[in-house]
Amino acid sequence: MQYGYFDDEHREYVITNPKTPVKWINYVGTLAFGGIVDHTGGALICKEDPALNRITKYISQLPSSEFKGETLYLRFKQGEGYKVFSPYFVPTLDRYDLYECHVGLGYTRIVSEFYGIRTEATIFVPSGGSREIRDIRITNVSDQPLEIDAIPVVEYTHFDALKQFTNADWVPQTVQSKAYHDENGLLILTQCAFMHKDTRINTFTSNHPVSSFESDRRWFLGDNEYGTWANPLSLQQEKLGDYEAQRGDNIAALLHRLGVIRPGQTTRLITQLGQDESVEKALPVINRYRDPEQVDRAFDELAAFWDAYLSNMQVETPDANTNSLLNIHNPRQCYITLNWSRYLSLYQLGFGARGIGFRDSSQDVTGVLVGAPEDGKELIHKLLQAQKRDGSAMHQFNPLTMVANEGDSREIEGAPRYYSDDHLWIVLAVTAYLKETGDFAFLDEVLPYYEKDREEHPFESGTVLDHLRRAIEFTWNDVGAHGLPLLGFADWNDTVNLRKGAESLFTANLFGKALLEMIELARHLGDEESVARYSDYYETMKRRVNEQAWDGEWYVRYFDADGSPVGSHTNTAGQIYANGQSWPVISGFASPERAKAALEAVYRRLNTRNGIKLSAPGYNGFDPTKGGITTYPPGAKENGGIFLHTNPWVIIAETTVGNGDRAFEYYSQINPVAKNDKIDEFECEPYVYPQNILGDEHPQFGLARNSWLTGTASWAYQAATQYILGVKTTYEGLQINPCIPRQWDGFKVTREFRGAVYQVVVRNPDHVCKGVKSVKVDGKEVAGNVVPVFEDGKTHRVEVIIGEDIQGC
Ligand code: NOJ
Repeated sequence: MQYGYFDDEHREYVITNPKTPVKWINYVGTLAFGGIVDHTGGALICKEDPALNRITKYISQLPSSEFKGETLYLRFKQGEGYKVFSPYFVPTLDRYDLYECHVGLGYTRIVSEFYGIRTEATIFVPSGGSREIRDIRITNVSDQPLEIDAIPVVEYTHFDALKQFTNADWVPQTVQSKAYHDENGLLILTQCAFMHKDTRINTFTSNHPVSSFESDRRWFLGDNEYGTWANPLSLQQEKLGDYEAQRGDNIAALLHRLGVIRPGQTTRLITQLGQDESVEKALPVINRYRDPEQVDRAFDELAAFWDAYLSNMQVETPDANTNSLLNIHNPRQCYITLNWSRYLSLYQLGFGARGIGFRDSSQDVTGVLVGAPEDGKELIHKLLQAQKRDGSAMHQFNPLTMVANEGDSREIEGAPRYYSDDHLWIVLAVTAYLKETGDFAFLDEVLPYYEKDREEHPFESGTVLDHLRRAIEFTWNDVGAHGLPLLGFADWNDTVNLRKGAESLFTANLFGKALLEMIELARHLGDEESVARYSDYYETMKRRVNEQAWDGEWYVRYFDADGSPVGSHTNTAGQIYANGQSWPVISGFASPERAKAALEAVYRRLNTRNGIKLSAPGYNGFDPTKGGITTYPPGAKENGGIFLHTNPWVIIAETTVGNGDRAFEYYSQINPVAKNDKIDEFECEPYVYPQNILGDEHPQFGLARNSWLTGTASWAYQAATQYILGVKTTYEGLQINPCIPRQWDGFKVTREFRGAVYQVVVRNPDHVCKGVKSVKVDGKEVAGNVVPVFEDGKTHRVEVIIGEDIQGC
């Protein structure tokens, strides 16, 4: 509890010590307009694309004490000059009497007290809006009247985020600032790149008269920038320079004289940072958010959005950490990953190298379907347009331009230019969307494939169903010497890049799972021909996997181009891979005996108190024939690190074999909420999953990095809600099939599904893990464990008793 605590009632995490081991962040807005706000008020804001239209300059590699993107200074007279401090702690680092950062749903509120001045700054982007609002309430909590000035500051970046760092000649010559004096002393300070002066204007303004301003960093810091952000020399002057920068490092600093604030009195200053076509066009919205009542309304609307999003699934289990995670933090993280893919975080820097990942975002879709199916559908639309005519997919695309590329595979000459798994994930996303919504018309929508002619017209289009079919056919035809899917440049594990001709067992199993989905869909659509065809593919691939990939105690992970196994006891490093074991269970390819043995091997060889390692033992030296995995020391990232994304797959596999105790043990050991008590080891935000934790071969075992944007969010949510709690959508209704720790007496779930509310109460009187004994819907016993679709807007009570222990089968 060293840095903060969970406040579930207000759905916040409250940071009480600003000196967290690394910056802890929150997201405001969406990719349409928004970005990251850190717990000391720094912000990275962009509109539509962090690479091509970035607004604030946030350099995450700078020390935590440094100014990043935005801040607020307050000052009052002291002797001949001013006492200047930041109520956000950074960058002045004054001693505080109170510091709290409330990490909320779509907002961050920093509450602090310094020198008898209490500040509450609520930072958010209104739902669907394109302004970052800072609603700052300043209260005199001393017993003396205080004359206070407030100076909010923004530092701009060049819109081309990478150019900012690669061209110090062109960039500073192309940016300019201008002041628009509005009525009643209000001021709008604009900034833009010259080439965008008629199209994209950054505006910074407030609801309070501005006595002076500065737009050039050099003048603001003073002394040719030997003044610092911790002590800007211009803030010792009565007035700022009122300088409209014609070039250079543009900032926006607005000096507000708030006047004398009496003890107990509060003044409210509202700033807004936006981007618009012109000041004239921006004025209506600027004026709206100068009105405190409108700001309150926007904040209430934001809260209403999150209420609605979260209320679709709420749980009550015997474990408080699980409840906190499933009711608040995990679904929030799912929504953030859907928005930002792996594009912009403190670790994914948004300079354009990535964009929206085909594989990543397809998996993210599945995490938001409960609360935001329409958002999921919108992303599926985009993803399908990055699929190629042959059924494979482009690896990633830019969200603004929709221009796609082949990812890292471009970097290695002669390497295959596709990833063997990408296109298969979309089958899982689309079928999950259909089960959630029943929107079968979606299958008939016609969308283009990626390839285009010179005029940028797509060569070919197909229905959504056609896209899925081509995905399947691609893998069916793209097989190697063992009849298993060729690896391409890589599969899910980006970092194992074997010579052309290698085969992937992961992709074979993902193919199996995609086939199960296609068979179920075809059956539901009454398309028996497809059922037969896909069943044949399924049985064939199942046979190939089982005949060739069983290593004795577990499944191998790859065959290299020479036909040698990788992920086998015959290897010296990388003998066993977690994905090699979980996925044959998920695909249904593993027999019950093999499933059990493979999962036991995971427990024995890969499990640690901080999570399941991706593989073991780690490769101990760079080996170009293996690829990226060997660039990491043993225990880091894909090389034997705890790559969290893969843990829920083992959890799902354990629930499939009925082992609820172990599934929950795995779930709990990676629950970030529980890390709050071991934060010195973990270091990252305890309210989100990180991508990776250093494994036990590494000296810093337990250290997390790359928080927020990870497929762990979607899969951990699915594992917990659909497999442990067992509330799962099907084409026919809501299936209830829990697999819980046997000591639980039961649990409750409230789930909105296709226009009705299902209040599910599960009881476990015999203390078993799995096995539905009876289901009553609205007091009446029903056969089986699928509760029908009601679509009647009503609430239905579902009582489930589990009692037959099928552990081990
Ligand atoms: C992170 C990437 O975003 C994801 O696509 C990949 O599956 C994992 N790394 C594992 O390599």
